[in-house]
Amino acid sequence: PIEERISLLMKEMTLEEKVGQMNQYNGSWDVTGPKPESGSNEEKYNNIKKGWVGSMLTVRGVKEVRAVQKIAVEETRLGIPLIFGFDVIHGYKTLSPIPLAEAASWDLEAIKNSARVAALEASASGLNWTFAPNVDISNDARWGRVMEGAGEDPYLGSKIAAARVKGFQGNLDNTSIIACAKHFAAYGFVEAGREYNSVDMSNSKLYNTVLPPFKATVDAGIRTFMNSFNTLNGIPATGNSFLQRDILKGAWGFKGFVVSDWASIGEMITHGYAADGADAAKKAAIAGSDMDMESNVYVTELAKLVKKGIVKESVIDDAVRRILRVKFELGLFDNPYKYCDEAREKSNIGSSANNESVLDMAKKSIVLLKNDKNLLPLKKSGAKIALIGALANDKNSPLGSWRIAADDNTAVSVLEGMQQYKDNLLVYEKGTDVALNKQSFLNEVKVNTTDFSGFEAAKKAAKEADVVVMVLGEIGYQSGEARSRTDLNLPGNQQQLLEEVYKVNPNIVLVLNNGRPLSIPWAAENIPAIVEAWHLGTQTGNAVAQVLYGDYNPSGKLPMSFPRNVGQCPIYYNLYNTGRPTDKDQNVFWSHYSDVEKTPLYPFGYGLSYTSFAYKNLKIAKPSFQKGEKIEVSVDVTNTGNFDGKEVVQLYLNDPVANIVRPVKELKGFELIELKKGETKTIQFTLTDKEIGFYDNNGKFLVEPGLFNVMVGWNSNEGLTSKFELK
Ligand code: IFM
Repeated sequence: PIEERISLLMKEMTLEEKVGQMNQYNGSWDVTGPKPESGSNEEKYNNIKKGWVGSMLTVRGVKEVRAVQKIAVEETRLGIPLIFGFDVIHGYKTLSPIPLAEAASWDLEAIKNSARVAALEASASGLNWTFAPNVDISNDARWGRVMEGAGEDPYLGSKIAAARVKGFQGNLDNTSIIACAKHFAAYGFVEAGREYNSVDMSNSKLYNTVLPPFKATVDAGIRTFMNSFNTLNGIPATGNSFLQRDILKGAWGFKGFVVSDWASIGEMITHGYAADGADAAKKAAIAGSDMDMESNVYVTELAKLVKKGIVKESVIDDAVRRILRVKFELGLFDNPYKYCDEAREKSNIGSSANNESVLDMAKKSIVLLKNDKNLLPLKKSGAKIALIGALANDKNSPLGSWRIAADDNTAVSVLEGMQQYKDNLLVYEKGTDVALNKQSFLNEVKVNTTDFSGFEAAKKAAKEADVVVMVLGEIGYQSGEARSRTDLNLPGNQQQLLEEVYKVNPNIVLVLNNGRPLSIPWAAENIPAIVEAWHLGTQTGNAVAQVLYGDYNPSGKLPMSFPRNVGQCPIYYNLYNTGRPTDKDQNVFWSHYSDVEKTPLYPFGYGLSYTSFAYKNLKIAKPSFQKGEKIEVSVDVTNTGNFDGKEVVQLYLNDPVANIVRPVKELKGFELIELKKGETKTIQFTLTDKEIGFYDNNGKFLVEPGLFNVMVGWNSNEGLTSKFELK
């Protein structure tokens, strides 16, 4: 009946009202205050009243949402409810780790639950649509938005994408928010990692690497997509009908709608793809962009274009049907105030249950990169600990980027977390500041390279301590949108601080804060213990302290390769072999760098535990299989260390001869297991055509017979190997 209800409603709608559904405004006035008298806010207000607005973004809080919804429902001719969108990227007010950090957990249930908590809070605040998940695969740490995605791998990225969609959307009840897969497509491959830059890539790369996580969200029942700012092979994604019509709405049968990115329809003019607003509106609508976010060209141009016969009304009808369908599915026609529950808003947002959940996710996201001589976990009593670094005493930075609804300075700092362990003597020294200006979503961060005044005090504290914990890295707003960097070292003079402190006490645990892989070759060589703690959200300090003190045994594995230096970027494990991968002829004519090894510092899938694991008995059921047959692979994993622990067992596949060159390795299965001390488990993987095949440059899925190499291991570089044949 939803389709019939849509048809009946659309019969009543004027062309302008239809186009209105395709128009989205940013809520930029205090809607519960007096109505705007002049300027663009007044125009927005009047257009809502005319029924010329389908959605608002960033209007939030039950009072505000109710007030705007009331205008749409009670003051417009047809009373069509608005849908309220917002960037709920890693939580609403109670923040989970940044998405890249969550991906390091490889824990799909935890990730789904984290999205659920975000949905609970956002929906309690009147919202019903999030512009997440970001499913952009990227292998270039220079790009600041890697913090929002799941890293470099399409297989892991697809599983996480689906988990996030399910978490956000739940059962489409009033605790659910509609998810939005973004940015369609290939935004993660902007040239040189520079924000908003162009993308040129082969179709096979597009189909095998970029598109799988998007497809996974469609399979998981996602209702909306957002297109992206970049061009793809010369066509802006926003005006790209190959992506939006042929693939998304055609081949994949997607029934939801596509929203543009902020002003991306208008930006097609600047790209050099559209002549003016009318041309941009025409090209975007025809290419399948259903809703205009803040370009203001659909509402001003589309009806005229239809009347002139330049855009067919069927294009408008298709977009409007898609938008209305989502509103009907959300139940907004039955109850436009479904999400407006003041009591729930009060009780849910910031609840202790939500804080417990984000703490759980934060602990699971931490990756132990190095632990020489078992410096970790720390002794719980009788030790003198120096805690050094401005980030250790920062309650804002750990919230990370993209957290518009969260209040500043609401994270538990590492200092506060460590203070919970009272039987040690803890001395704090800042050492140096990371940034010279205030942290904010809109500002460029000015990094401190000149002030060394805190070094001496830090060294003194370190000298008198048994163990030094140094919290160094990026502040939250050094990654995220428009935060591209050409230097991936520790920002400012933190590297100097690290080296100076090391001279007086080398017993250092380095805790990294960052929204992207950093290059830390000196630390990797010299510092005995390194903990990757990303930006872990509201409960950062508690999570870090519990890991440092061994109340939680870390099990995270890197979702992105860490480079030795920025010149290696983009760097990723699933690369092609080249014709000259090794120096077998003992001369310079092979694929390498003259000044640094070509391998990453820490590979994809890498991460340690306080315990150790041994892998044995990699078995493939038979030496050869027929196409279509299930290929069973098993391996025994034993906890050989002194702690109970978790391990991510990873299966990689290589197709050594194919019609299109295949990567040296591709993740095709993983399992997160828990093993008690001394326990052994047999882990089973099943490979099907889906894992074995690949897309060619025409987007055709091929399963080719031949030999396949299998590796099952503990990171993308190490494991047991075997092979099978496909007949
Ligand atoms: O959702 C975001 C998008 O990722 C980047 N541009 C703005 C949108 C809305 O805030």
